[in-house]
Amino acid sequence: MDEYEDRIITSEHLDGDEATEEQSLRPKRLSEYIGQKNVTENLKIFIQAAQMRGEPLDHVLFYGPPGLGKTTLAGIIAYELGVDLRITSGPAIERAGDLAALLTNLNDNDVLFIDEIHRLNRSVEEVLYSAMEDYAIDIIIGKGPSARSIRLDLGKFTLIGATTRAGSLSAPLRDRFGVVSKFEMYKPDELQSILRRSAELLRVEIDPQSQIELALRSRGTPRVANRLLKRVRDFCQVRGSGKIDIEITQSTLQSLGIDEKGLEGLDRDILRLIIGRFGGGPVGIDTIAAAIGEERVTIEDVYEPYLMQAGYLHRTQKGRVASQSAYIHLGLPLPEEKENAQMSIFEVTEDAADR
Ligand code: ADE
Repeated sequence: MDEYEDRIITSEHLDGDEATEEQSLRPKRLSEYIGQKNVTENLKIFIQAAQMRGEPLDHVLFYGPPGLGKTTLAGIIAYELGVDLRITSGPAIERAGDLAALLTNLNDNDVLFIDEIHRLNRSVEEVLYSAMEDYAIDIIIGKGPSARSIRLDLGKFTLIGATTRAGSLSAPLRDRFGVVSKFEMYKPDELQSILRRSAELLRVEIDPQSQIELALRSRGTPRVANRLLKRVRDFCQVRGSGKIDIEITQSTLQSLGIDEKGLEGLDRDILRLIIGRFGGGPVGIDTIAAAIGEERVTIEDVYEPYLMQAGYLHRTQKGRVASQSAYIHLGLPLPEEKENAQMSIFEVTEDAADR
């Protein structure tokens, strides 16, 4: 298991109880969904309008960092439309035939959710174009001279695509989405509301101070907030009084290696590498990936968004640069201070030489 799978902010590979619990914390209706107001306010109108016309909702693309509720919102859209939802992901659809099998099972107005849609392969993507535009696909039957193409009509479905990187989507695919929505990181007060709601569903009491502490350390991400809440609940159950208070919250966060800004070991490793080995940057992403032993896309999609949002890291054309606040956060001397320190040594030496 690599660090990406192991770390608490990981979004993938939930199984067993954890997956069921995550499901159970997910809101079902739009009215229960907290935050992302720009996205939800518009969607509310589009859903209502589609329903009034008796038409399918236009295809929707969600993009933004992992863990911000894209899948949850897709589920809510299907629920609000009163239709079936099918969930799949880009890498899971290997051949055009896999997609055809999915598409031909959809009824009018149903929702097909494709996570990581930027990872669809080309031949699959091309089938999707006509499916999205004409609600029909052409499939080839047979091989060689006797091969022929037949057109299959599909239900008038809605595709909801989700991606952590809108820039990786091909232009023809991107252009076929009628609604494109960006997910933003959550504010601490929104995370606090999510934590309160989740604690209630998990039937655990949590004091306001602990809610605030967890909200501040959740990297703007509900999935992280809910994970942390569950871990604090574990510590509380085994060691504590049964009620989550600030002492147990802080000791859990410390045991998990999460600092007061929500950074974990690997976040700090990235910043220390840029500062310690590359003088604060700029340094190329591939160099960072090789030095840290982590895949480039994982660093780009999972670690960097929060480091940038928190103001510790900048992406420049020449590479990644650590900000002043990264130095301060890690307790390292600022570059000017280092220069000053060196200068004063230099000046002393020069002074000494003069004498
Ligand atoms: N759980 C996870 N994300 C949520 C959200 N945006 N609103 C309410 N509950 C959530």
